[in-house]
Amino acid sequence: MRDLVQRPEGTASTHCTAEQYDAMYRQSLANPDAFWLEQAQRLDWSTFPTKAGEWSFDPVDIAWYSDGSLNLCHNAVDRHLADNGDTVAFIFEPDSPDSPSRSLTYRELHSEVVRMANALKAMGVTKGDRVTLYMPMIVEGAAAMLACARIGAIHSVVFGGFSPEALAGRIEGCESRFIVTADEGLRGTKRVPLKDNIDAAIALLDANSPVDGVLVIRHTGGKIAMQDGRDHWYTDVASDADCPCVEMHAEDPLFILYTSGSTGKPKGVLHTTGGYAVWAAATFYYTFDYQPGEVFWCSADIGWVTGHSYVTYGPLLNGGTSVIFEGVPNYPDHGRFWDVIDRHKVNIFYTAPTAIRALMREGNDWVTSRDLSSLRLLGTVGEPINPEAWRWYYEVVGKSNCPIVDTWWQTETGGHMITTLPYAHDMKPGSAGKPFFGVQPLLVDNEGNPLEGAADGNLCITHSWPGQARTVYGDHDRFIEAYFSTFPGRYFTGDGCRRDEDGYYWITGRVDDVINVSGHRMGTAEVESALVLHPKVSEAAVVGFPHDIKGQGIYCYVTLMEGENTSAALTAELRQWVRKEIGPIATPDHLQFTSGLPKTRSGKIMRRILRKIAENDYGALGDTSTLADPSLVDRLIEGRQNR
Ligand code: WTA
Repeated sequence: MRDLVQRPEGTASTHCTAEQYDAMYRQSLANPDAFWLEQAQRLDWSTFPTKAGEWSFDPVDIAWYSDGSLNLCHNAVDRHLADNGDTVAFIFEPDSPDSPSRSLTYRELHSEVVRMANALKAMGVTKGDRVTLYMPMIVEGAAAMLACARIGAIHSVVFGGFSPEALAGRIEGCESRFIVTADEGLRGTKRVPLKDNIDAAIALLDANSPVDGVLVIRHTGGKIAMQDGRDHWYTDVASDADCPCVEMHAEDPLFILYTSGSTGKPKGVLHTTGGYAVWAAATFYYTFDYQPGEVFWCSADIGWVTGHSYVTYGPLLNGGTSVIFEGVPNYPDHGRFWDVIDRHKVNIFYTAPTAIRALMREGNDWVTSRDLSSLRLLGTVGEPINPEAWRWYYEVVGKSNCPIVDTWWQTETGGHMITTLPYAHDMKPGSAGKPFFGVQPLLVDNEGNPLEGAADGNLCITHSWPGQARTVYGDHDRFIEAYFSTFPGRYFTGDGCRRDEDGYYWITGRVDDVINVSGHRMGTAEVESALVLHPKVSEAAVVGFPHDIKGQGIYCYVTLMEGENTSAALTAELRQWVRKEIGPIATPDHLQFTSGLPKTRSGKIMRRILRKIAENDYGALGDTSTLADPSLVDRLIEGRQNR
């Protein structure tokens, strides 16, 4: 078949061959309990569980390994000390290539995590408390996650690019009384005022959600304000005192991570300890075919789920070496990623298609001038990859001898769900491939009827898996509504998907009101709420449109309050406004003023029409006769063309 790229041959230590995949996948469906209890042996348990999955999707109640207990920090760090204490756990590559890089062995990481856990305890953090981490990509970020896990606190990492407004919502949302941050972050030539943003966020909080303690890591040495009694320098409160790992039930919460959905504010997705750990450990092991001693680099920020599962937990649960990169792909120049690979002899590299597309555009010399011969395997995540970018990644970066794993998954799934395994499956550029063990995808039409064989439909998962999110923090009804109500009894992913005649899955993108900008999930509703907060804005509708580099861009239709006038200055002001409300990742690409939005007679905005107009595709607007004001469409098109 033309679009098939043959997998390389494995070696004797390959974790999964084609035959093994078939047998293991079959077994994982036929006897999930036995399969997942065996996989649980990847971890050290205080009490080994006697059962694996106990779950129902109707009513929605999910538990795994419920009578087992363990500590995740012990599994990620302490248990490696006896035999592998001198193995490097993290390699830190700073923002500037001229600053020194740093590597920490498991023994050194252990000391750092103990110090961090003692610092948290000194602020009063105890088991079950929510701790917000708002950190640059430095070792202390991962150490703070592990320190929370060590003492049974629940971490909620907020991406350092979010604004004080967005941050405040996430602190309030999980009633987090403790924060870990740094003075400033560095991204290319920019300094990110992390501590100032924390101060601004706290000032926005309701008086009923006090923040009791802020732990501050000195990173850049930039000037910041410290509030007596509330703010503590890390080095002042850290100590080397003995700090044992707290035994946790498998179903005790591990972390909350906020993510965008099709409606309302971001949701605090909750993951628990045992099942998530098995999932992170097993997917890392099989998908990347990780071999001891290899250097693994996932370029995601720990503020996203990819950073949770594949910068911190997956690699460390496997005793691996993980690179933490503070900088950006284009600083000081477009060869930075390839420099990092060359400098640290990276064997496995995992990044987003948006970065691949942006770097591809800069030409091959940036890549070919570096020695990338250490690379063995490449991976992508976060959005569909177009075959052209896939080919470039495969041929120019991987020199046609590194398999590519295109991993489809979500914040809610905890880890990989659909991906080829590097030595088990041939690859098809643009297809994520086959389901991971235990994953049972189902394509359904819009009425929920299952589609067999080669088909195109809505992607659901019919059976629970250990890494599945258990709930939305504090709002189980919202969890049910968001994921189990569209197609009752099934987990609905929000993605459209095609399955081909070979059983390969091709993710076609979101079918709900979520857009994917540079691999980051964005709720169109969030951008709309930000816009209508502006005093001059009356109504807003936001849609995604295809963007060469970012995958999707953000297109906003805005109607103004009576008497307000459109202007270039107002456009600029509104773009700035959204950046301030959410963060730079939400900056609108295009803003079109309009006298009205296309609505049905019952007042529902017809987004289908707005999407088509944003895409510059006027031929297929479909039926517009149900619109309250059909003439509006022509005015919208005219506005689009004159934009
Ligand atoms: C999209 C990121 C195509 C998808 C791990 C999903 C992908 C959303 C892929 C989740 C892929 C992720 N191919 N699309 N390999 N991986 N997506 O929660 O739309 O930030 O629903 O998790 O990203 O984004 P999230």
